[in-house]
Amino acid sequence: MRIGILGTGTLAQALGAGWARAGHEVVVGGRSESKARELADRLGHGVRAAAPPEVAEGRDALLLAVTWDGVQDILRHAGVSGGRLNGTPLIDPTNAVEHGVGVLLTEPGTSNAERIAALAPGAHVVKAFHLFPSDQWTGGPGGKDGQPVTVPLCGDDPAALEVVGALVRDFGGVPAVLGPLARARQLEEVAGFVIGLAFSGVDPGSAIPRVP
Ligand SMILES: NC(=O)c1ccc[n+]([C@@H]2O[C@H](COP(=O)([O-])OP(=O)(O)OC[C@H]3O[C@@H](n4cnc5c(N)ncnc54)[C@H](OP(=O)(O)O)[C@@H]3O)[C@@H](O)[C@H]2O)c1
Repeated sequence: MRIGILGTGTLAQALGAGWARAGHEVVVGGRSESKARELADRLGHGVRAAAPPEVAEGRDALLLAVTWDGVQDILRHAGVSGGRLNGTPLIDPTNAVEHGVGVLLTEPGTSNAERIAALAPGAHVVKAFHLFPSDQWTGGPGGKDGQPVTVPLCGDDPAALEVVGALVRDFGGVPAVLGPLARARQLEEVAGFVIGLAFSGVDPGSAIPRVP
């Protein structure tokens, strides 16, 4: 696949490395040209740096790996208004939560994923990859401790969900569609739950019933 990554931080590096290793064509870019070049160099495997408009153009999938409050700026920088992302699967891994506390910062009844869909008309937004820390993806296809993880997804377009599911499998993950984008707030709240418990010293996995 031709994958664009907007953002040059920790998650961009972790997911970009895995997809490049899996043989995808990866292009990275952000608001800093030099950080994009440095990231492309670090990733190797033919990964290229480009300006945000080129990163967003003609991709089979586009990852929005910026902080939740940087989304509007980077989408504007990439010039995605006017339907330029028509039909592009746009992966939203953002967590709009209060750091270390987990309280959602989005308005009640809304989600950051739906906000992104409104900012990128025509794109097929899929909420994904927001729940696990980036080091889950850096160990290659067996995952962090050799245990496959389930990656819940929300989105409205079946083809986009398929594409993102395939990109989850590149890491040995198992995609699970929770429902349409209207349910993305639930996924975002789960991240808040996980962050809240983890920062208070509790393993969030121990607070979820096992349902074999
Ligand atoms: N890291 C994780 O473990 C993890 C796991 C799950 C989800 N996430 C989510 O993934 C997203 C990226 O996280 P990260 O850990 O990669 O963060 P990070 O290392 O801090 O990188 C953040 C990126 O966002 C960019 N950015 C911030 N404000 C911006 C703006 N106004 N305009 C354009 N770009 C802007 C930064 O650019 P500069 O470098 O120029 O500041 C940088 O490229 C976040 O939404 C986070 O919640 C992260």
